Amino acid sequence: MDRLKSPARLMIVSDLDHTMVDHHDSENLSLLRFNALWESNYRHDSLLVFSTGRSPTLYKQLRKEKPMLTPDITITSVGTEITYGNSLVPDDGWVEILNQKWNRNLVVEESSKFPELTLQSETEQRPHKISFYVEKAKAQAVTKALKECFEKHGLDVKIIYSGGMDLDILPQGAGKGQALAYLLKKLKSEGKLPKNTLVCGDSGNDAELFSIPEVYGVMVSNAQEELLQWHAENAKNNPKIIHATERCASGIIQAIGHFSLGPNTSPRDVTDFLDCKLENVNPGHEVVKFYLFFERWRRAEVENSEPYLASLKAACDPSASFVHPFGVEQSLCDTINAMRSCYGDKQGKQLRVWVDRVLPVQISSNTWLVKFNKWELCGEDRRCCMTTAILSSKDATSISDGFTWMHVHQTWFDESEPQDQSTWLF
Ligand code: GLC
Ligand code: MG
Repeated sequence: MDRLKSPARLMIVSDLDHTMVDHHDSENLSLLRFNALWESNYRHDSLLVFSTGRSPTLYKQLRKEKPMLTPDITITSVGTEITYGNSLVPDDGWVEILNQKWNRNLVVEESSKFPELTLQSETEQRPHKISFYVEKAKAQAVTKALKECFEKHGLDVKIIYSGGMDLDILPQGAGKGQALAYLLKKLKSEGKLPKNTLVCGDSGNDAELFSIPEVYGVMVSNAQEELLQWHAENAKNNPKIIHATERCASGIIQAIGHFSLGPNTSPRDVTDFLDCKLENVNPGHEVVKFYLFFERWRRAEVENSEPYLASLKAACDPSASFVHPFGVEQSLCDTINAMRSCYGDKQGKQLRVWVDRVLPVQISSNTWLVKFNKWELCGEDRRCCMTTAILSSKDATSISDGFTWMHVHQTWFDESEPQDQSTWLF
């Protein structure tokens, strides 16, 4: 959170399953569209928050399965765990608040007396969350009976039903909404209250997000009945909440446009980069655009034409070099020439390339050092390079003419290093 020195232009707080991540989209197209939009236009001055029902264990698993970005803040286990940055540093203040008035053992003991409840897996039982499965037809009656039972024992807990099957029991002060309220209060006390906040969800445990004052909200088109019903009963006349006509992450992009929260054209929706003159030119956009071209070139989704390569070379300084993750250094222009031989080599092989955490730092009046993680996914094969690029604007007084690449350096991330070095380019 300390990354930003001033209030975020936009803070997106999004649920993951069936909101940011579409489990019915094996190509992950809406997620990739969102990623490209976020990294090219928002990452540098905005905050991305994921708020999921998953435990940290299942969250990490999802990150391995799907092309997800790294959020600034991760809220897991239905708002009971708030963590910061890539290494998921816990917010101890939040833990302390939740510890007040919470008797986990007694909740476990009492709920075990309900045969309609089936305990979820061990990973999903957390210090401030106890989770069960319950049949949809029985949910209402069980919830009511549970409430009465807890009241009798003086237990002040929250019961949330989601996705037509999951029942979570949390401390009364927990939940996705309360976690967001805590976060907003904390940001405000630091003088960094985001200019706009957009919450995004699809199911019951997201309802609370939409009741936080001042925020914009989008229920994605595929939202569950329980959320739509909550909305009809509690927030029908709130013009700051929409039910998108698009699914999952595409619904989020739709809401950004609907509420005029900033640019909403994903670079993935731009088909011809040669004549794309964008309103918002920044180094992040340059990086996203380059790797998107690289993906399309290898999938043969752009024409195999010399003008494309010529325009790429024109954007490289003649003395620019590329330090290959295997350690070899070569001229950037030569690397681009070598792209001729890989045109269409991934056709029909589902190659996807995306960049994460694109963070530009201005190092002189017209030069930026841009760090990012560059991911490639091809079938089962997934790898990442930590990349550093130096970009300079052609004209010191304006960056509207685009950037010149001065240097690119890649290093393997974790165990990404492939066995076969011959197929690696950029
Ligand atoms: C996620 C969690 C599960 C929880 C559900 C609804 O699926 O893994 O434990 O019950 O979200 O909040
Ligand atoms: Mg969901």
